[in-house]
Amino acid sequence: MGNQLVQISTPGKTQTSESLTPAATAAPQFFPTPASGTGGAGKTFYIETFGCQMNVHDSEKVAGVLMARGYRPVENHEDADLVFYNTCSIREKAAQKVFSRLGAFKKQYHSSRKIIGVLGCVAQQEGERFFERAPHVNLVCGSASYSRLSDLLAQIEAGKRRVTGLSLDTDECFETEVTRRDNPFRAYLTIIEGCDKDCAYCVVPMTRGPERSRPSDKILGECLRLVDEGYREIQFLGQNVNSYRDPSPARRSFAELLARTAEIAGISRVRFITSHPRDFGPDIVEAIETHPALCDHVHLPVQSGSSRVLSRMLRGYTREEYLEKIHCIRNAKRDISVSTDVIVGFCGETREDFEQTLSLLEDVEYDQVFSFKYSPRPKTAAGGWADSVPEDEKAARLAELQERQRVIQARRNQALIGREFEVLVEGFQPRLGQAIGRTTSNRAINFPGEPDWVGLLMMVRVTAAGPNSLVGMRAGAT
Ligand code: SAH
Ligand code: SF4
Ligand code: F3S
Repeated sequence: MGNQLVQISTPGKTQTSESLTPAATAAPQFFPTPASGTGGAGKTFYIETFGCQMNVHDSEKVAGVLMARGYRPVENHEDADLVFYNTCSIREKAAQKVFSRLGAFKKQYHSSRKIIGVLGCVAQQEGERFFERAPHVNLVCGSASYSRLSDLLAQIEAGKRRVTGLSLDTDECFETEVTRRDNPFRAYLTIIEGCDKDCAYCVVPMTRGPERSRPSDKILGECLRLVDEGYREIQFLGQNVNSYRDPSPARRSFAELLARTAEIAGISRVRFITSHPRDFGPDIVEAIETHPALCDHVHLPVQSGSSRVLSRMLRGYTREEYLEKIHCIRNAKRDISVSTDVIVGFCGETREDFEQTLSLLEDVEYDQVFSFKYSPRPKTAAGGWADSVPEDEKAARLAELQERQRVIQARRNQALIGREFEVLVEGFQPRLGQAIGRTTSNRAINFPGEPDWVGLLMMVRVTAAGPNSLVGMRAGAT
């Protein structure tokens, strides 16, 4: 999991499966009426999504807005009247993908009347320049302007050729009651948008705007509604989810919000991602200890094991301070799984700095590490510094780090053989007759199963383990 990048096409599909419907709870309505207009009636759409879970969830919201305007999802862009690319600019490669996709698109549809929109982080970063680089684009809109999306669509439907939503001047999070969630069991829920941390290498503060949290009562009300709709698991999202600051008079801390959510009758699992080390305190660990519905997994990106590099990255903590947080997590009364993100080859990273990152991996023994080569980004502080580690050295460090982590993970996973875990069955592969379940600690286990187990919670015993996967057997089965 983590903020690993994904690429998903989101045609607004409905997955059908058996799920246990939890006890119904009265669900207060907190949302404004969706923007009116049915200018999309009879038209079709297709969304392709790149980037982190926040982008994935944004696409679910955008799909909902489109459907509220009358558009219908289709399975591929060929059949769509409107195609949206929801983009990511975290690394150069991710950003480039958008332009190559748009280029290929233009060749294929040079004379068509399709509406093309670019959303997300590259849209925000490139802004109106998109119209020069890709003249066939009709709409460019960053995530901080999605509350205007319905209006922008109305303008396009009325015949306007180019529209933009690019203001970052907002204190609101975009939420809508019409969100079209793809997963029938796990509901993503944004609780905080944007980022104020300004790490030296990162575009996010510029692409997603200032940090802004949603009122806790609204979040809790929405959780009640989601449980009522049959979701078993709620996943709170934020670039730094634990930097949450309740703007309502209740002034609930992030840990209190977690605890209150976990107490809602019918919620089986509550996850949250991503936690920033600087704002991670013992109260979060205490909440996990006390509330079984809070998942025993923390994604705590470290970025580097060298305090010198961390200081240049402007991360706001040292190696020692980070390790204190890990110590607190490891001392919890419940086993808590920890994963992280690492950047290798940041400006000025020496071999010795890198070795400190390797030694940190040994010290912490993460269950999962998402590792990236440093990619200089425009308009960031580090974007103007010398990108001093050569590309082949970055690649060599990345490979070395990943091999080191592979050994650690193989060892940790081997130690799980024979243990039993509760899994939420998330999928079934008919060809293999295998169900895929996820533990509360976010480990995936493959085990022989039935298609109608999808959506159920069941106990599974681990029977074999590799560095990246676990194999099991339904507990009690022979
Ligand atoms: N808010 C989270 C991270 C969000 S971005 C945090 O601060 O922990 C997801 C991950 O992308 C980061 O953790 C980092 O490892 C990686 N990343 C961000 N900018 C990058 C860059 N310029 N080059 C390479 N990796 C980068
Ligand atoms: Fe980027 Fe740093 Fe904000 Fe994370 S905390 S999103 S790495 S600026
Ligand atoms: Fe997410 Fe990529 Fe934007 S990681 S916040 S979609 S830059």
